[in-house]
Amino acid sequence: MDMRLGLVGDVHTLFDARDVAQLDASSYDALLFVGDLAGYLDDGRTVARCIATLATPALVMPGNHDAAPLPHLAAEAFGLERLIRLTELGQDRRCARLRRALGKVPLVGYSVHDLVSDDLSITVVAARPHSFGGTRLAFARHLASRHGIDSMQASTRRLRELVDAATHQDLVFLAHNGPAGLGDAPHSIWGRDFGGSHSSLPRDFGDPDLRDAIAYATSSGRRVRAVVAGHMHHGIKGGGERIWQLQRDDTLYVNAARVPRIRDGLRHHVRLSLSKRQAHAEAQLTTRS
Ligand SMILES: [Fe+2]
Repeated sequence: MDMRLGLVGDVHTLFDARDVAQLDASSYDALLFVGDLAGYLDDGRTVARCIATLATPALVMPGNHDAAPLPHLAAEAFGLERLIRLTELGQDRRCARLRRALGKVPLVGYSVHDLVSDDLSITVVAARPHSFGGTRLAFARHLASRHGIDSMQASTRRLRELVDAATHQDLVFLAHNGPAGLGDAPHSIWGRDFGGSHSSLPRDFGDPDLRDAIAYATSSGRRVRAVVAGHMHHGIKGGGERIWQLQRDDTLYVNAARVPRIRDGLRHHVRLSLSKRQAHAEAQLTTRS
């Protein structure tokens, strides 16, 4: 029987007891949250407490909104170094609060997690937490104090070490933002749709360290079955919808960030089914009330 994973995209405060009941009734082997539980004015702990009540095993990757209130988020978004230094000091404490609110559910990042079903065993490689996208290392102080990571190069090295430490040959990468290399247009799975075509930011807003880790895993004989992330919302600025899944070679890339995830009474998540041969992703819009 396939391994069945429920993927929950950027929540941005929209997750409640109805989602818990619906997901627990769906017989998933595990649930992967790609991050951004928080909103601009909500620190995400209400959602975290709700996630803590799930009976289904779950992993939560923190996003750029998590443990970063609005002034800190804005400072990181615009690379305002002085404001970053003023606002970043409380992030370790805010992350600890989020971790407590999640209870038994781990807040992951730079970590590996084994999942086993009847026919398949995989290791989930949880990549760099709090990714903002692009080549700049955001939330650097927290990454240094919590994980000992002080540069994109150090992050790249750590992700390679995690690949080497994985128990199983079959891997699923879990990240907040997707890898570099798949973002050549605004509607690409992780293409930049903000800032206009003349922005100095690259169009490809994927994570370079994650791209390297995927290539390293493949070259080391691992089988990267899926890469699961979000961050770049499905609805793109200026209109239209982003490509949200993409098969490249043996790997299925899934961007689960349909925002808002509850719209017109429909609750979104993605069902990822993994057999020994195939990976298949299907959007789920449920109406349970
Ligand atoms: Fe995000």
